[in-house]
Amino acid sequence: MQHTLTHPRTTLTRVVVTGAAGFIGSHLVDALLADGTTVIGVDRRDPRTDANAAANLAGALDHPGFTFVAADLRTSPLQALFLQADAVFHLAALPGVRGSWGERFAEYTASNVFATERVLAACEDVRVPRLVYASSSSVYGTTGGGATAEERTPNPESPYAVSKLAGEQLCLAHAGKPTSTVTAVALRLFTVYGPRQRHDMLIGRALTAALGGPALDLYGDGRQSRDFTYVGDVVSAAVAAATTAIGTTVLNIGAGVSTSVLEVLDAVEELSGHPVPINQRPAQAGDVETTLADRSRAADLLGWTPGTDLRRGISRQLDHLIADSPQPVRA
Ligand code: NAD
Ligand code: UGA
Repeated sequence: MQHTLTHPRTTLTRVVVTGAAGFIGSHLVDALLADGTTVIGVDRRDPRTDANAAANLAGALDHPGFTFVAADLRTSPLQALFLQADAVFHLAALPGVRGSWGERFAEYTASNVFATERVLAACEDVRVPRLVYASSSSVYGTTGGGATAEERTPNPESPYAVSKLAGEQLCLAHAGKPTSTVTAVALRLFTVYGPRQRHDMLIGRALTAALGGPALDLYGDGRQSRDFTYVGDVVSAAVAAATTAIGTTVLNIGAGVSTSVLEVLDAVEELSGHPVPINQRPAQAGDVETTLADRSRAADLLGWTPGTDLRRGISRQLDHLIADSPQPVRA
């Protein structure tokens, strides 16, 4: 189906990406640089001392359009970094659902809520016109299985989800101030996968297990399902969210297909040609049964539709894992 783009687009000359050394942030940086945009990448993980950050930013660090700034958003002055930015992409956060219970919640509130407030205040101070915020499908909680539209009342079921919803609400509160000049687009991202995926996430762990690494801890019966969304599609949505002339809003960014963990394991076994060894573990607090995006609003407002199906995306992640492994893996 063709969607008519009703909103004109602007071009990006200079932008800031927070969480630039992370999984999604580093892909966004690469795409923006390839488009000729000047990018200031901010992250507290410094590629000079953090091997994972260095690997994620391997394609960007020598690019003349890229400047990396090692800074903690909870404490560092931000105004000077944001000066003359056409957009700030705010991706920095503690991202894990299952690890957000207990004492670590202090870190989640500091990096996901307090730091987001600081980012927004700095955007206002130096009049950044557009903030793109990485929100989360987890804000919906248990949904009953059907596709979830943005109007649905949020029902976060983990401390992480609460922190992401709080960040989203801060974006709306700042953008709604009568004096504010920033418009905010919060993207509710649905379980993102692809090359460089975080090591705590399912698809990378399953592929690693199939290639001879540690067995996968399978949480629960594996019938829980996710709307797995390819990282390249998330990047194109984020760029569209920064360049399309729309007002402050919240948008689902999901592939629109819900796939169970067991089905993912079947696909990994088929594509890798190896079984996935499993350790059965109890279901984890905070993990919901199903996620599935209704993506009509993103299609209507951004003209965004995902382009990579799960098998193709897993296959790319597998190729990347094999190519990137320091030790020979079984291919
Ligand atoms: P990631 O951990 O790979 O990247 C996040 C980066 O933020 C890290 O490099 C980390 O060092 C940085 N960071 C955290 N706190 C910081 C602070 N106080 N100051 C400076 N830097 C800080 O995670 P990701 O999977 O790339 O997720 C990126 C964003 O997308 C997060 O906001 C996450 O909540 C959101 N999100 C991710 C997914 C997913 O499936 N990966 C889905 C929905 C939403
Ligand atoms: C992912 C991201 O990790 C979050 O940052 C993000 O906010 C969230 O998506 C979102 O959509 O908003 P999650 O859906 O838990 O969270 O993604 P995975 O870690 O890939 O887990 C998917 C499923 O596999 C879950 O049901 C989980 O219980 C299961 N799983 C995961 C395992 O059985 N074993 C593992 O080792 C990892």
